[in-house]
Amino acid sequence: MCGIVGATGSSRVVDVLLSGMARLEYRGYDSAGVALVVGTPGEEGAPELTSLWRARRAEGTKSVADLAASIEVPEGIVHAGIGHVRWATHGRPDEHNAHPHLDCTGRVAVVHNGIIENFATLAAHLVDEGHRLASETDTEVVAHLLESRIATGESLTGALRAVIALIEGTFAIAAVHADDPDVIVAARRVSPLIVGRSDGSGLVASDIPAILGETREVFSLDDDHVAEVRPGSITVTGLDGRTVGPRPMTVEWDLEEAEKGGYDDFMSKEIREQPTAVADTLRGRLSGDGRVLLDEERLTISELREVDKVFIVACGSSYHAGLVAKYAIEHWARLPVEIDIASEFRYRDPVLDSQTLVVGVSQSGETVDTIQAMRGAAEQGAKTLVISNVVDSSMARESDAVLYTRAGPELCVAATKTHLAQVTALQVLALHLAQVRGSLYPEESAQLIEDLRSMPARVEEVISRAPAVSEVAGAVAGAKDFLFLGRHVGYPVALEGALKLKEISYLRAEGYPAGELKHGPIALIEEGVVVVAIATLRSDLLPKMLGNIEEVKSRGATVVVVATDGDGASVVRADHVLWVPPVPHSLFSPIVDVVPLQLLAYELARLRGNDVDRPRNLAKTVTVE
Ligand code: G6P
Repeated sequence: MCGIVGATGSSRVVDVLLSGMARLEYRGYDSAGVALVVGTPGEEGAPELTSLWRARRAEGTKSVADLAASIEVPEGIVHAGIGHVRWATHGRPDEHNAHPHLDCTGRVAVVHNGIIENFATLAAHLVDEGHRLASETDTEVVAHLLESRIATGESLTGALRAVIALIEGTFAIAAVHADDPDVIVAARRVSPLIVGRSDGSGLVASDIPAILGETREVFSLDDDHVAEVRPGSITVTGLDGRTVGPRPMTVEWDLEEAEKGGYDDFMSKEIREQPTAVADTLRGRLSGDGRVLLDEERLTISELREVDKVFIVACGSSYHAGLVAKYAIEHWARLPVEIDIASEFRYRDPVLDSQTLVVGVSQSGETVDTIQAMRGAAEQGAKTLVISNVVDSSMARESDAVLYTRAGPELCVAATKTHLAQVTALQVLALHLAQVRGSLYPEESAQLIEDLRSMPARVEEVISRAPAVSEVAGAVAGAKDFLFLGRHVGYPVALEGALKLKEISYLRAEGYPAGELKHGPIALIEEGVVVVAIATLRSDLLPKMLGNIEEVKSRGATVVVVATDGDGASVVRADHVLWVPPVPHSLFSPIVDVVPLQLLAYELARLRGNDVDRPRNLAKTVTVE
């Protein structure tokens, strides 16, 4: 939520900021703004005069484009600048609450992501001291606190160190000061922030895609560390002022991957990248002697063998991927698995010990609730493992083991390719655990990994059927209520199908385990309601699913069935069918079954004229509670 970018020392500061902000828009699009430190030559050899220049727009999803098209950068040298895209927390999403925020002198500018929990107390003190606050945001206090420290003679860096010690809550902050024109200072606590440098320039950003076009020399910041970014140099200090080395990050992505590449939007591009995302996630997972491999394992085999319980924590689509893993780990590794929404796990009192493995699933590796859940688990002595799409993300750095989904950057707010890659990675994890525990013979788990390798072709096949999905979307386009039903691993598919639909089409959509139909949702069934039934499982559950289809059909629902090629029996009562190819193991079926539902959501959202990449009120990475 909210995206930050900063640039210094480049001849193209404004371009770097605007293109970075366009790439960060998926984090928030309530408003956009930049502040620049501009120098104009003093008259007759007098020193250069520097000042701050600011422009902000609050045009919803068009903020960055509007800002880019309409600003007229003042004459002079642009030394440095900071930019921000906002997902509003404190204060309406209008221009006066848009970042950057300034101090009373108009010489300090600040952008922020996160929530300053004690801002009301800090603001009251500042007002008592005579500061004038111009917005309703929590962020603005930072600008005024910096101003107060700078007035006592502190440098901008020293001032930021002192200020973050006063702040309670989470933040990623970048600030500039007209008196120190080439410097950007930045700090973080929980909220993501990276710094970078290249050929005489310095960069700050919320994530890698924002500055991929400028550098691949990128560093992560630890909590409560302050970076002083100058052209070509970065110095990081701890709260005590001592220098700490910036930590290099591995940048695996190309700029091209973070661009639309001829597609209308990121969502259709990312849906079509799914076969590659699944294939890449499976790359190198089997050693020569048949062992299933993770990316980083700071746990010994005997430590892993001791694990007697697994918790999975995640949010949104990552949670749905985690639900699939519960079935896979219990089935193959014979370990009890509990799964929790990360924000619930954090605040209950889960029973954990050193024999518990807590698996965090997170595309970004930065979602605040999942990070904090994992930290809480580690504090209680549990072992932690993360499934992350971002290499060296906060969660990846802090966990005992990591399995990366190699899906490439995902910029559409609604997750698609990373969800499929997560389901794939979690199957790999289940097989790894099964191998370690000896619950499967090595050849069995190796064979299952081999079987997984056939999944990308099957996903490709479903994607090639997009025109058929589009016809179904046209047929149900008038409906307002959707109920998605599934059993076993079809249940998480139902949840994910419903989530995709509500996220981007704003239609009412619920996912339910089909067995619960008669415990409530059936009361909602009437003419005009669309029921999407996932009926692909090759087991004795299929006849039960067909019974549920009968029940809703006889009450007037329009029924869309996701069915396996050739299975005529499952579609007898269907109004529309979304066919998918068979899979080698029913636990793999979510990898194909969810794809037509992504396409259905996409088509319905487009028919309604929605911006699929930037759905209202949502943000891709939720860094505030
Ligand atoms: C937001 C995004 C979802 C995502 C969820 C969890 O809600 O819109 O697409 O599934 O956060 O994000 P994570 O990065 O932890 O997977």
